[in-house]
Amino acid sequence: MFKTRSVAAVAPRLVLVSSLAALLVLAAAPARAAADGLTVFNQNCAMCHVPGLANSPKHGDKAAWAPRVALGRDALLKSAITGKGAMPPRAGNPKLTDEEVAAGLDHMLAAVK
Ligand code: HEC
Repeated sequence: MFKTRSVAAVAPRLVLVSSLAALLVLAAAPARAAADGLTVFNQNCAMCHVPGLANSPKHGDKAAWAPRVALGRDALLKSAITGKGAMPPRAGNPKLTDEEVAAGLDHMLAAVK
């Protein structure tokens, strides 16, 4: 059957192979994958913009969004990043990147087109 020597010979190689595999996985994974618009919206914007909390324009409400949309996407993105009225900067989540805030904004704008 198995020779005792073979286990001793193979074990160090297994350790080496599995640590190389772990390194490859680490190298391949980005620091943190950017969240897509729907995810950003669900996790950071929906709690206010779905119920219309504190008079925020409701998600999908074209009439409420029309005067905002007229300001232009750049101005809206700036508001979402720096905050406006009762809306905190980056929806209160400092971990959100500019790109993620923009993705959340685009998700909301797509709903009122
Ligand atoms: C804590 C509640 C809250 C959260 C969370 C929140 N908002 Fe708002 N948002 C508001 C309120 C309130 C307003 C209205 C602000 C005003 O005009 O005084 C607003 C307005 C806006 C506007 C219009 C800005 C303008 O210049 O007229 C945009 C765009 C917007 N929110 C995007 C977002 C996005 C994108 C997110 C998620 C990343 C988000 N909001 C999360 C409360 C919130």
